Amino acid sequence: MTDSNPKPRIALGADHAGYRAKEAIKRHLEKAGYEVEDLGTSSEQSVDYPDYAKAVAEKVARGEAALGIGVCGTGIGMAIVANKVQGVRAAVAHDELTARLAREHNDANLLTLGGRVVSEAQAARIVDVFLGARFAGGRHARRVNKISQVETGCGKRGGKTRPPGRSAP
Ligand code: RB5
Repeated sequence: MTDSNPKPRIALGADHAGYRAKEAIKRHLEKAGYEVEDLGTSSEQSVDYPDYAKAVAEKVARGEAALGIGVCGTGIGMAIVANKVQGVRAAVAHDELTARLAREHNDANLLTLGGRVVSEAQAARIVDVFLGARFAGGRHARRVNKISQVETGCGKRGGKTRPPGRSAP
């Protein structure tokens, strides 16, 4: 979001399997007035999805984009990688319901899509629903806070999680 554009800035990336869908999403978003930062890839030549997922996720984590969208063959690899970047809540959505609930319940800030799963038209509809939905807060805020606690308490900062109900050794 900038002073001159009230729509949020979107970071967008894809691997070769998501390239065509990414291009369609970019055209769709730019037509709707969004500022889109395209982080690649730029063709259907085979590349590694973690490179593009990381680039999109880091833009979101640094606040350089309000939201991110990553496309690979299934959306799964993009989501796995993006969720390793602190502060990112990536959700794969294959339909409008999961896209809406990812925002309303999970406060997802990065949407991932499967270019081999949804059509370009479906991808555009899913993106519209994701961008149009808002976090519902309330009980969901408590749960999202618990996600942050897991994130800061295990793995990513070298800590360890314990099974629920077990005391520290
Ligand atoms: C690439 O063939 C494919 O594995 C990738 O796009 C993605 O679907 C991984 O999750």
